[in-house]
Amino acid sequence: MDGQIHVMIPEEEVNARIAEMAAQISADFQGEEILAVGILRGGAYFCTELTKRITVPVILDFIEASSYGDGTCSSGQVKITKDLDEDASGKNVVVIEDIIDTGRTLSLLMENLKSRNPKCLKLCTLLDKPQRRVVEVHVDYNGFQIPNKFVVGYGMDYAQRYRNLPYIGVVEFE
Ligand code: IMP
Ligand code: MG
Repeated sequence: MDGQIHVMIPEEEVNARIAEMAAQISADFQGEEILAVGILRGGAYFCTELTKRITVPVILDFIEASSYGDGTCSSGQVKITKDLDEDASGKNVVVIEDIIDTGRTLSLLMENLKSRNPKCLKLCTLLDKPQRRVVEVHVDYNGFQIPNKFVVGYGMDYAQRYRNLPYIGVVEFE
C-alpha cells in the first residue's frame, strides 16, 4: 500500500456542485447545442456526470492528449493520442477536464481545438490547483479550487488506481 486516502470532498458535495455547474452551462447555452469534449481518461467521470445534468442538446465526444517536451518547457507540442470523432467547426465546444495543474497540456490542447474554428470554446474543470499553474489557462467553469495536494477519485488516478472512487480523496503519502 502506497498511501492512505482521506476524503477531501464528499460525494454529495461533488454532485451538488456538478448540478450547479450544469445549470449554469444550460443557462449560458439556452437555445443552442453543445459539443461536450471530455478529456480522457481523468475527465471521463466528471464529463458524464456533468452532461447528464445539462438540459440543452449535447453531443458527447472524447479526446486524449499528451504533451511533448522536457517538462519544463511550455512551448511544446500537443500529441493527440485519441482525436475527436466529431467535427468541432462551428460548434459550441465545452472542454471538460478533471483537474488543472500546471496547465501545460491543456493550454496546448485548447489552442489545437481553437484552430478547428469552433463557434465558441469554453473550458470546464472540476478541480483547479492554482498554486501549481505554470502556463496561463482561462477557465470558464470551475468546480472547486483546492490546495496543492495530490487527489484521486472521480476519474483521477494514482498509478491508474482509484479513478472509480465516488468522492475526491487526498493521498497521504507515508
Ligand atoms: P497539467 O495541468 O498539464 O499539468 O496536467 C493536468 C493533468 O495532470 C490532469 O488532467 C490530471 O490528469 C493530472 N493531474 C494533475 N494533478 C493531479 C492530481 O492531484 N491527481 C491526479 N491527477 C492529477
Ligand atoms: Mg487529465
